[in-house]
Amino acid sequence: MTKKHKTTTNLTKINELKLKAQSLKVPILSDDGLLFLVETLKKHNVKNILEIGTAVGYSAISMAYHTGAKVTSIERNPELYALAVKHVIDFEMNPQITLMFADALTCELDSNLRFDAIFIDAAKAQYEKFFNKYEPFLTESGIIITDNLNFHNVDVDTVSRGTKNLVKRLESFKQFLKSHVDYESELYNIGDGMSISQRIKS
Ligand SMILES: C[S@@+](CC[C@H](N)C(=O)[O-])C[C@H]1O[C@@H](n2cnc3c(N)ncnc32)[C@H](O)[C@@H]1O
Repeated sequence: MTKKHKTTTNLTKINELKLKAQSLKVPILSDDGLLFLVETLKKHNVKNILEIGTAVGYSAISMAYHTGAKVTSIERNPELYALAVKHVIDFEMNPQITLMFADALTCELDSNLRFDAIFIDAAKAQYEKFFNKYEPFLTESGIIITDNLNFHNVDVDTVSRGTKNLVKRLESFKQFLKSHVDYESELYNIGDGMSISQRIKS
């Protein structure tokens, strides 16, 4: 198979994976969110990524494919983890992508690991906890990216109490980012609302 043919085949397969996730009603990164993420990773010359929230592996495979970076991704749902493992093998990306079956809130990473990007795309109510737990694993010039900050732009007057609470938690996370003394954060109206945080150099 020529390199060009392989590239086309992989892009087709990534698109099929997106359709599969959608048909299973597994929430995944939007097209513009993914484009923004990949451009950001390339701009920062990212070589090692930690992802919180693998789902079926769509964003992990896409990031690995488009940037060539190594990806470590954590998923706590056993069925989704099993699907992600299958997909990573299908794409022959098992050396490039490391999948972990664990709860990212409680698992322990090797303290020597360092990532130049951390992508947080898991339980929205826990974003601040994920940020605090994993920012020590960031390289000095590394970035933390989050998704879903706008939570589908819901109208808080028309949703359940649970959703209202979630929206409040996300607003509080945005305030946390804005007031963080060690990180400078930008919020973007891309995808479902994304942020990029970078450590302020001392
Ligand atoms: C929005 S989906 C991830 C989508 C994926 N990043 C993509 O775009 O292809 C969020 C995932 O985070 C997982 N998750 C939520 N809380 C988690 C936790 N504490 N630890 C690990 N995974 C978690 C959920 O099971 C779900 O599969």
